Amino acid sequence: MNLIVSADENWGIGRNNQLLVRIPDDLRLFRELTEGKVVVMGRKTRESLPNGILANRVNLVLTHDRHYEAGNAVVVHSMDELHRRLEPYPTDEVYVIGGGSVYSQLLDECSTAYVTKIEFAYAADAYAPNLDHLPEWELIAESEEQTYFDLIYYFANIKQRGGTMDITGRKLFVKALREEGVDTIFGYPGGMVTDIFDELYKQEDIRVVLPRHEQGLIFEAEGYAKASGKVGVCLVTSGPGATNIITGLADAHYDSIPLVCITGQVPLGLIGNDAFQEVDIVGMTQSVTKYGVTVRDRKDLGRI
Ligand SMILES: NC(=O)c1ccc[n+]([C@@H]2O[C@H](COP(=O)([O-])OP(=O)(O)OC[C@H]3O[C@@H](n4cnc5c(N)ncnc54)[C@H](OP(=O)(O)O)[C@@H]3O)[C@@H](O)[C@H]2O)c1
Repeated sequence: MNLIVSADENWGIGRNNQLLVRIPDDLRLFRELTEGKVVVMGRKTRESLPNGILANRVNLVLTHDRHYEAGNAVVVHSMDELHRRLEPYPTDEVYVIGGGSVYSQLLDECSTAYVTKIEFAYAADAYAPNLDHLPEWELIAESEEQTYFDLIYYFANIKQRGGTMDITGRKLFVKALREEGVDTIFGYPGGMVTDIFDELYKQEDIRVVLPRHEQGLIFEAEGYAKASGKVGVCLVTSGPGATNIITGLADAHYDSIPLVCITGQVPLGLIGNDAFQEVDIVGMTQSVTKYGVTVRDRKDLGRI
């Protein structure tokens, strides 16, 4: 995904639901980059557009209002729904165009930011994330200084370091869940999955159901799968966390209840060393699962 913004010295982007300033060259660049592409915006940004829609682009508008109508724009009501709507489009053809709340929520998923940087501090009331202060964002190129009357501005191309290849395993994991349409996960935290839980708790549209014991958790996931027709998804830690779900796995297997269970494992270098809370969970569950695999490389996470 790409992010496109014009921001003042303090990363201010708007005031009273209007742009801070309309610079013709900036508007031209915006049109050139986004025409024929998909643009994602918040409801307030949509309402700040002169025609309420950007012509020659697929417009996606976020709002919590279920009755909101936006002409030819596609209205979505959550990040989850947005991601589902974006599935048919290549991510490099998607432009996040604001405003502040939408930039913040989608920043991690953007690999490139096209920034028009204005050397002036306005009295703004909407702000984009300050990419100058985020170490993972790196200035790749910037134009010569431009002027518009007495304003000085320049165009900057800023990239998230390494792009998607640098995305952490926990973020990839959550991205994969989203892409599969998972909105509920039955999880019990533990040492080897703490990072994943930290990431999950940041998601507003993935519900984590916390039971008192992993054995209860997997039966809850089975009940959820039976009642909803969806796949029950479980996340537990290594060793005892993993072995505690085996009875439920067998039950689901014999009753053909669809479950995907993710367990932690000890660090790669310790596998096979009888490390603390290590068990061969793939081996132990072979006869009561359709498929089991140990993911040894982050790059295999998406495919698996
Ligand atoms: N300088 C630039 O490049 C630039 C670009 C774009 C916008 N802007 C400016 O930025 C300002 C608007 O930005 P803003 O941050 O105030 O508003 P915004 O991000 O455009 O819109 C916020 C609204 O989007 C909806 N929304 C956001 N996240 C959602 C989610 N996860 N699920 C469902 N709905 C969600 C909510 O609508 P509901 O309240 O309806 O639920 C929320 O109130 C304006 O001044 C505009 O001119 C500047």
